[in-house]
Amino acid sequence: MAQDERKRSAAAAALAYIEPRLTTKSIVGVGTGSTTNYFVDALARIKHKFDAAVASSEATAERLMGHGIVVVDLNAAGEVSVYVDGADEVNPAKQLIKGGGGALTREKIIAASADEFVCIVDRSKMVNVLGAFPLPVEVVPMARGLAARALVGLGGVPELREGFVTDNGNIILDVHELRISDPVTLETAINNIVGVVCSGVFAAQAADVVFVAGENGIQLLQ
Ligand code: 5RP
Repeated sequence: MAQDERKRSAAAAALAYIEPRLTTKSIVGVGTGSTTNYFVDALARIKHKFDAAVASSEATAERLMGHGIVVVDLNAAGEVSVYVDGADEVNPAKQLIKGGGGALTREKIIAASADEFVCIVDRSKMVNVLGAFPLPVEVVPMARGLAARALVGLGGVPELREGFVTDNGNIILDVHELRISDPVTLETAINNIVGVVCSGVFAAQAADVVFVAGENGIQLLQ
């Protein structure tokens, strides 16, 4: 099975998982990325079964609306029943690196707002220790140097994501050479750097369930 097929099957598994949990009043949180795009396309088939969606990026909002799914602002949404999103790395504790697509801040906000965070990945994203994927950190532009020096102090090698501006008007530093053996401690340390908006470590609040699509079908981590 090709990687795209695995992404599609992880998305289909998440749809089957959330469908019985939805009511016509439910708000569905939707992440960003190629795996999530498959989920958006699948979600369109059951758009009459929930009220509206909140989106973690402008790109996802556009895709949802293209399918005729109502997209609402998180502040107007009230309770988010479930949040479905991909990840760049997942460890056995369901802690994640996210932000490869640069939408990490809104992703973490919606994940924190949701009753349940359902992560969808293909098997290539599974790791024992997070950090081989360069860790995205969203930073206020004027704090670029300050934050980069602090990230070096934490053992990383930050690299500016050239030509990229987040939906929030900020920059991304992709931090290489981190071996994240204690994800919660690193997440807290990065959160404490002045000028950092958000780190791509999702550890203090990990995913609730992860659908992993591999050669032999779907594995559910819960
Ligand atoms: C975007 C993300 C994505 O979920 C992550 O990059 C995985 O993307 P893909 O499904 O395309 O592999 O965190 O900010």
